[in-house]
Amino acid sequence: MSVRLFVAVDLPTFLKEQLGQLRINLKHASWVSGNNMHLTLKFLGNVNMQDYKALLLALNQIKHTSFELIPHGVGYFSHSNMVKVLWSGFEKNESLVSLAKQIDLITKNIGEAQKRKFHPHVTLARPKNTRLDMIVPFLQSYSLFRTPAMTVRGFSLYSSKLTSLGSQYTKEASFELQDAV
Ligand code: 2AM
Repeated sequence: MSVRLFVAVDLPTFLKEQLGQLRINLKHASWVSGNNMHLTLKFLGNVNMQDYKALLLALNQIKHTSFELIPHGVGYFSHSNMVKVLWSGFEKNESLVSLAKQIDLITKNIGEAQKRKFHPHVTLARPKNTRLDMIVPFLQSYSLFRTPAMTVRGFSLYSSKLTSLGSQYTKEASFELQDAV
């Protein structure tokens, strides 16, 4: 038996509420609801039960202090001129990168190898049949999006089940960062 897993930072309610408003009219797009929004640090894919236990032990060993992160801007991922993901981003943040790197290193032998380069984002929508020109209003309307800083005090391990209603995420465990002095 295996389970599909990823490690993510939870977002504060104020941010999820604001991100839920960054929408435009698009014919073919499913927009992510606030309770499914997160900042993925590492996608592990399918993990067997033995590795699952090793993963929990490994994640417990992460030593990192809490830090502030500023939500800023929006963008997209595309393939062959078609938009695949609309996302919101963050100001460049070395603490976030070092946390993701630690998690990546400590989970190197667990699950699938990381295929994508770490690009901190929150997925807002997964458009279909959508050309780049169709999302210009999204980029123009929200490029200046910015909120006060959020504090990253920990991270969570999530499982993801693919259902007919889309992906269903369940929080399996949470891990705290150390207080910054
Ligand atoms: P996405 O939001 O950019 O789609 C749960 O599926 C989380 O893991 C999502 O945040 C998703 O990123 C990410 N994810 C899913 N499949 C992935 C993959 N193959 N590589 C990296 N991240 C992935």
